[in-house]
Amino acid sequence: MRTDIARPVRLSDYKAPDFRILETHLSFDLIPEATRVTARLEIERIGASDAPLVLLGERLKLISLTLDGAPQTADITPETLTLPDVPDRFTLETEVEINPKDNKTLEGLYMSSGRFCTQCEAEGFRKITYFPDRPDVLSKYTVRIEAPKAGFPHLLSNGNLIDSGDLPEGRHFALWEDPFFKPAYLFALVAGELDVLEDDFTTASGRKVDLKIYVDTGMKDRATYAMDALKRSMKWDEDTYGREYDLDLFMIVAVRDFNFGAMENKGLNIFNASLLLADPDTATDLDYERIESVIAHEYFHNWSGNRVTCRDWFQLCLKEGLTVFRDQGFSGDMRGTAVARIKDVKMLRARQFPEDAGPLAHPVRPSSYFKIDNFYTATIYEKGAEIVGMLKTVVGPATYRKALDHYFETNDGTAATLEDFLKSFEVVTGEDFSPWLKWYTQAGTPALSIDSHYDAANQRLTLTFTQHTAPTPSQPQKSALPLPVRLGLLTENGAPLGFTVDGVAHTDYLYVLTGDKAELVLENVSAEPVISALRHFTAPVKLSLTEPDSHKFARFKGDSDPFNRWEAAQVLARTLILDAQGDASAYATALRATLKDSTLDQAFKALIIGLPTETDLAQAMSPVDPQFIHSRRKAFKSALSHSLYDDLIALYESLDDAGDRMDNPQPFSPDAASAGRRALRNALLDLLLAGHAQADADRQAHLEGRLQYHYQLSHNMTDAMAALNGFTYIHGETYDQALAHFYEMEKTEPLVIDKWFAVQAACAHPETLDRVERLISHPDFDARTPNRWRAVVQAFASNNPATFHHPSGRGYDFVVNQILSVDRFNPMTAARLVDVFSAHKRYAAPYGDLMRAALERIAKSENLSKNVAELTEKALRG
Ligand code: TRP
Ligand code: ZN
Repeated sequence: MRTDIARPVRLSDYKAPDFRILETHLSFDLIPEATRVTARLEIERIGASDAPLVLLGERLKLISLTLDGAPQTADITPETLTLPDVPDRFTLETEVEINPKDNKTLEGLYMSSGRFCTQCEAEGFRKITYFPDRPDVLSKYTVRIEAPKAGFPHLLSNGNLIDSGDLPEGRHFALWEDPFFKPAYLFALVAGELDVLEDDFTTASGRKVDLKIYVDTGMKDRATYAMDALKRSMKWDEDTYGREYDLDLFMIVAVRDFNFGAMENKGLNIFNASLLLADPDTATDLDYERIESVIAHEYFHNWSGNRVTCRDWFQLCLKEGLTVFRDQGFSGDMRGTAVARIKDVKMLRARQFPEDAGPLAHPVRPSSYFKIDNFYTATIYEKGAEIVGMLKTVVGPATYRKALDHYFETNDGTAATLEDFLKSFEVVTGEDFSPWLKWYTQAGTPALSIDSHYDAANQRLTLTFTQHTAPTPSQPQKSALPLPVRLGLLTENGAPLGFTVDGVAHTDYLYVLTGDKAELVLENVSAEPVISALRHFTAPVKLSLTEPDSHKFARFKGDSDPFNRWEAAQVLARTLILDAQGDASAYATALRATLKDSTLDQAFKALIIGLPTETDLAQAMSPVDPQFIHSRRKAFKSALSHSLYDDLIALYESLDDAGDRMDNPQPFSPDAASAGRRALRNALLDLLLAGHAQADADRQAHLEGRLQYHYQLSHNMTDAMAALNGFTYIHGETYDQALAHFYEMEKTEPLVIDKWFAVQAACAHPETLDRVERLISHPDFDARTPNRWRAVVQAFASNNPATFHHPSGRGYDFVVNQILSVDRFNPMTAARLVDVFSAHKRYAAPYGDLMRAALERIAKSENLSKNVAELTEKALRG
């Protein structure tokens, strides 16, 4: 392990800046290997009169430095530029040279497909110029960009274009001015050859905003869905939060090489092309769904992040948790609240719960870090969103809106904290919200248990709530958190059962547990009830409720809360798979009834026939044996497939001629109902194929025929991918032929070829261990493009537990080698894969030891980045 890691950054060390930057004038002379950046900063002292001026800068070659026009010599380290003695008000001008072409970190100014682009969040601006690169230094920017016209016809930055024109020798320039004060992490620049899709939006107050989406040449048609999603987002934020857009121009640029999903730079969002470009032939319904939500997310940041930004990076969830909550609300309104909620909770449990239960557990507001890039986690984003959701649940929608209005109005133009956020709830309710701060400062998922006692003679149900949070690294002691629990009662047949609390009648009741333990009494409960607790998953906790399976079946069959209906099915399946306990035929019967229930929508049915994933199951097993989980799940799924065979076939066929076939083509529509129908049909295909290995020869031939038909007649990427994935059940030559055919058809489409790589890496066949090695020497493989790298390595490590956790340790070796090789040029992306080893303490032999050995091998390597070193060390120590 390297020992030269500096001290961590600590929240408790926060100190307000000593200087403010009133104006920032940047000038770029764009040359791929030697870009010149001039920065003229109007600086004013606001702190101690003897404070030195310290600017941050990395990998910059200083060409000149003047203060009020006079040349200076500064103290320069690899990370700072210091002028010990400066006046209270002055102009500082620096000129630096940088090399965007060689910058494969994809942070700062870099090149992607021959274009210049930037990524500054969190600390990338310091790779562009010397600056107080911290979110509480807000400045007004003007940006002049100069480049050759050939190759760089578009020159973009934040705000409004105020001047542009030709220069001698085939060059040109553009001058941009952003009237809003912003932190450096929201700076953006793009220059290159692009096609632009244009539209406009008129805001509620009647202002016309020009909308421009820039994409690779020839790809304009693939931006229409993103444009539509953008306009719907703009309208939704006005209707739901009263938030209008504030500039006359809003631009989005899609780039191929990008470390994350997208970035909310003021007026100039930059997107990973995979989250922007879509048409039926290249994007699946899931891609459309993600595009819609990410477009909304980045747009919503204009208020939650840009107009109100973060005081320091410890407050990251102030913008991310809130913005995720806002985008989830949008997706729920677009696609159905219940289905959206189930998907969000699945994701929370798959990614955030394990994080909270392992050595990398950290509070939503961490107290220290080495590299802030490592804290763009499911905890900050998803758990952060859950906290906002709980606040909304306890105060109700109308008061929530008032609190948010107050928050945006009182903090507009400032860099705020979580305390400021909670304060708005206090102001509008007059109540004390300080207990909620604990949700931000305490790591770990609370376990909530509910014990019930029914007194038939008095028709009284007494519920006893107990909460407990297990220790996490450096937080041995935990306190009680406020937990909102929405409750209802059912009869054993699944019908609603009314009750009264404090004399008031309810069918659905919100209880908020505040201490470690408390009792709630429900009166007038006319029969022994089935309890439906934590409806809509009102708190991110692990619920345990002691009850007979018949109660779970009652909820599975008839809970009016769709979330708990789905949840009951999941819990039953989990016990059937892991413990081989319970009534598998009752489960099949309940599922059959659900599939026949015409009141349920197809997207919901598609979710409920999806069994818990191997990752879900791993969380319920201790110690984890990934091979056991894989084989038990596979056997259960196969048996379920056979017992429902006729029903699955009948339903599959009933959905078959609804317009997604080439012999009966209807125009593709990405709307939620059509996507739900495709999702159900594809989920049925998947469950049918899960029975392939155990089927007799006739049935096997029949299933293969259906699959070929599904593949050949698919006329959209959703169905084609479902079929390609279906071939993994059959494997062998049929699978290879399908892959070869697909590759031949799609080889010129990088986003589709990513999917082709990912299907293979996620195939749970032991042969995949050899295959991934072949895939990384495929001519189309390129580790420098994160999308492609993740398509192989992340898909293998995260979506293929049975092969990744091979008892030989070969899967681990492969991933370690990949992390180490990518760390040499892209630490941010490499570090995000370290997490796949972090649960080593929870795994059975030989896996746990081999996972630890893998981490040790990373730790012992030479020249590790700070990013990878921090996570590896924590994963080993925790
Ligand atoms: N702020 C971005 C978001 O909307 C996340 C992001 C994009 C990011 N690129 C990044 C974070 C690079 C860190 C580094 O969620
Ligand atoms: Zn965000």
